[in-house]
Amino acid sequence: MEIEEYLSLVWRPGPDAMFAHPRLARVYDAFDGERDDLAAYVALADEMAARVVLDVGCGTGSLAVLLAATGRTVVGVDPAAASLDVARAKDPAGRVRWVHGDVGAVPDLGADLATMTGNVAQVFLGDDDWARALRAVHRALRPNGRLVFETRRPDRRAWEEWAADGEPVTRHVPGSGEVERCLEVRDVRLPFVSFRHTYRFLADGAVVTSDSTLRFRSRDEIESSLATAGYRVLDVRDAPDRPGREFVFVAERAT
Ligand SMILES: C[S@@+](CC[C@H](N)C(=O)[O-])C[C@H]1O[C@@H](n2cnc3c(N)ncnc32)[C@H](O)[C@@H]1O
Repeated sequence: MEIEEYLSLVWRPGPDAMFAHPRLARVYDAFDGERDDLAAYVALADEMAARVVLDVGCGTGSLAVLLAATGRTVVGVDPAAASLDVARAKDPAGRVRWVHGDVGAVPDLGADLATMTGNVAQVFLGDDDWARALRAVHRALRPNGRLVFETRRPDRRAWEEWAADGEPVTRHVPGSGEVERCLEVRDVRLPFVSFRHTYRFLADGAVVTSDSTLRFRSRDEIESSLATAGYRVLDVRDAPDRPGREFVFVAERAT
């Protein structure tokens, strides 16, 4: 099947339910676990002396609030209103500017740094979507501003671990009670992997599903798309908390 034909089958309007459904957004952090990845992003912002940071696909705001706590100007953009509601609750002093919208809605900030944590890059399935996202971030950066993002390495075949580990996970989430989540890998048609999360809210028996598709791009593919969008790749690092699993791209606005 051609890529375009597959994309037309998996296309869904808006962000996945796990980010956009209010009940699922409220339990997202509990299932996401410890965010050992975020310290490395704060360290990167320090290393770059970034004062103005744009967090694209900020979700429930875990990184944005950490960055804002260090006195930086931070803008978080996400199309999932329910995730932004969770994020705002973590930011009672209103230090972060939260923007509800797709990556195309990123304001022209002259940002020193743009981040896309939590493998946001993989939600852009089509070549056009990805190119559009890179261009939008490019516009929001100052000249020589940096874009830092991670994406899972396709050769690590993370989906095989997801498929092998089919055991439900249960979390107690304040305000939601006991919640059980199952993950089912439904289709692997590289570079795309589609999967379903099923959440069972034990307090009232409600069951909510969330379908997702991610794209696994090669390092070469990403480097070439960055160059086309006007970036220079400065470094490709490892994620310290997940060695060998992710590419962490550090790119600079070059044009
Ligand atoms: C796996 S979550 C990562 C959230 C956050 N960056 C983190 O590290 O916790 C992916 C996020 O990408 C967002 N997203 C999906 N489509 C998007 C788009 N077109 N533009 C910007 N963000 C998008 C989702 O709503 C979701 O919050």
